Amino acid sequence: MKITAIFAALAMRAAAVGVSGAAEGFAKGVTGGGSAAPVYPSTTDELVSYLGDSSPRVIVLTKTFDFRGTEGTGSGTGCAPWGTGSGCQVAINQNNWCTEYQPNAPKVSVNYDKAGSLGITVKSNKSIVGSGNAGVIKGKGLRIVSGANNVIIQNVAITDINPKYVWGGDAITVNDADMVWIDHVTTARIGRQHIVLGTKASKRVTISNSFIDGTSDYSATCDGYHYWGIYLFGSSDLVTMKGNYIYHTSGRAPKVQGNTLLHAVNNYWYQNSGHAFEIGQGGYVLAEGNVFQNIVAAAESPISGQLFSSPDTNTNAVCSNYIGRACQLNGYGSSGALSQADTAFLTNFGGKNIASASAYTSVVASVNANAGQGKL
Ligand SMILES: *[C@@H]1O[C@H](CO)[C@@H](O)[C@H](O)[C@H]1NC(C)=O
Repeated sequence: MKITAIFAALAMRAAAVGVSGAAEGFAKGVTGGGSAAPVYPSTTDELVSYLGDSSPRVIVLTKTFDFRGTEGTGSGTGCAPWGTGSGCQVAINQNNWCTEYQPNAPKVSVNYDKAGSLGITVKSNKSIVGSGNAGVIKGKGLRIVSGANNVIIQNVAITDINPKYVWGGDAITVNDADMVWIDHVTTARIGRQHIVLGTKASKRVTISNSFIDGTSDYSATCDGYHYWGIYLFGSSDLVTMKGNYIYHTSGRAPKVQGNTLLHAVNNYWYQNSGHAFEIGQGGYVLAEGNVFQNIVAAAESPISGQLFSSPDTNTNAVCSNYIGRACQLNGYGSSGALSQADTAFLTNFGGKNIASASAYTSVVASVNANAGQGKL
């Protein structure tokens, strides 16, 4: 290569700061802040301002933004529905949850960080991108606001949101939105949900290459495994989960219901002390090419929604009618298995962007190499 060509290539790389790659699956085509000039917030206030203003933005995180302590401490009487052992989570009495739903649970005093309770407002047309392994948000999550669309969260770690407290805060909230891509994100030590799609329509969402780390000193199952993983409760949601590492959880990873079509492909579930899937009424799940290793129950029983679990190659051929190719088998090691082959809902994939699938045999190596913040 000539020197001038090398300089041109370097200039292009420098200009390309921002989002890497493109979303697969339902949120294919999402552009976030597009070609807006990147901004580099230096304080928590600046980060909040860039995420919540109405300009398209490419927001590059080059450091840790620690929100802990920025809004003071909340205290009061909460409850301990899962016991008072030192490894148990306890609950804040948010919206009278303890008094209404857990009247017989032991009362406990709670002291939590208020910053965690509500995520940072994220408006439309934003890319939030970590630089290398530097982009970390501590003590507060991201909340894509009602009506927002076109948001990319890539290569960011969101951690340490009141891990002791249920209702202490969620890492990523989407509710009443469209076109959201969560990619190469790590979430760890969270009070409530790592990712939650609320009851309103979240429409098209892709969650890829992300690391849901359920390791926690406090758990609703009191065993170091986080219960509140991924909650997909939409009224009209299309969710692709591809290439994610869902580690050390004990439930709701994911819980799918409402009216949610989930394509779960090439994900790796490892070490779960309870169940991975919970499929309630209105949850429609196509699971293919995933690996379940050391998972007590791949799905909680009973399944009230519909599930096509790609059980064998003969059955999997039917996928060609709906997604244009056969479905891939899932792999199981020392693990409970999914075994259901509902096909009625597969017609819902018609006309949608469908993620590709690799054989499950390549998933562990690929997820270990790629999933999470800092692995881009
Ligand atoms: C987001 O960007 C699109 C395309 O540029 C534009 O049409 C839309 O109005 C923007 N949305 C908001 C809320 O600014």
